[in-house]
Order: sequence, then C-alpha cells, then structure tokens
Amino acid sequence: MEQLFVSSSTEETQEIASRLATKLEQGTTVCLYGNLAAGKTTFTQGLAAFFRIPRLVSPTFIIMRQYPVTSHPVIKTLNHLDLYRLNSVEEIKAFDVEEIWSDPSNLLIIEWPEKFVDILPHKRIDIFLKATTDDEREIKIITHW
Ligand SMILES: Nc1ncnc2c1ncn2[C@@H]1O[C@H](COP(=O)(O)OP(=O)(O)O)[C@@H](O)[C@H]1O
Ligand SMILES: [Mg+2]
Repeated sequence: MEQLFVSSSTEETQEIASRLATKLEQGTTVCLYGNLAAGKTTFTQGLAAFFRIPRLVSPTFIIMRQYPVTSHPVIKTLNHLDLYRLNSVEEIKAFDVEEIWSDPSNLLIIEWPEKFVDILPHKRIDIFLKATTDDEREIKIITHW
C-alpha cells in the first residue's frame, strides 16, 4: 500500500506520524529516508507522541535510543536508530538489530536506512520525506506486507 501526504508544518508532519501509529497492531520496522532536515526525527517524534513518550531527541551521536512504552497492548519499546555515522553491516549488527526487529514488542524506527537496505526485514514500512519548500514536506508511506 502506498500513500502520499503533503505537510505544511512540523506539527502536521507529527500528526501524520501519529495517525500512522494508531494503525500499528504490533511492533514493526519503520524506515525513514530523506536528506538532512527532511523531517525524519520530527516524524519519529510524532510516532513517539502517540505512545506518550514526551521528549524524543535525535540519537545521531549515540546511534540508538530506546524508550519504554506503557500505553500499548503489544508494543513495549520504541527503538530509535540513526545509521548516519555507521559504515559497515558489522557495526549495525552490534546493536542487536536482528533481535530487535524480530520481536513484535519492539517498534524500530531507522533513520538513514538506505545504507543497509539489503539486510533490513522485508516486512517494514518505508517512508520517504522530501523538502519542497522551507516548511513543506512530501511524505510517501509504503507499507510492505
Ligand atoms: N513540514 C515540516 N515537517 C517537518 N519538519 C519541518 C517542516 N517544516 C519545517 N521543518 C523543520 O525542518 C527540520 C527537520 O529536522 P529533523 O526532523 O531533525 O530532520 P532529519 O531528522 O531528517 O535530519 C526541523 O527544524 C523542522 O522544524
Ligand atoms: Mg534526524
């Protein structure tokens, strides 16, 4: 399934993300593609807001942040991974990603997934973000399952 949205503000991007989160019955892998400042972390904040995680910050320097979720029947952890600084498959595997994405209690959100697209699970949601003006973003959501 493929959906296309146009967002005119940070808040609208977060709203689109929260609406996607309402449809998740269990944890999955959400891949966020797009240039710097396209809105990948902003989108992730919208997902986090749905799960009542108040303050999600970019994990760029520490690669992964994990947040406990208590508001969902199946999803118990939101895992936010930023691959920007990683360069090899060994490095990403060291974060136990295979264990994380095979467990339905984990929601895994990945920024810069294009670097490792070959090893990502086939069952995932791909989200392509593109800045069209300062405040406008095209958001394409493709669900693979
Ligand atoms: N419609 C919009 N959607 C998302 N971010 C927007 C939008 N308009 C402006 N912005 C700004 O663009 C920047 C996006 O940053 P961020 O989410 O950290 O991007 P990324 O993680 O892709 O590098 C933020 O400063 C945000 O306020
Ligand atoms: Mg980011």
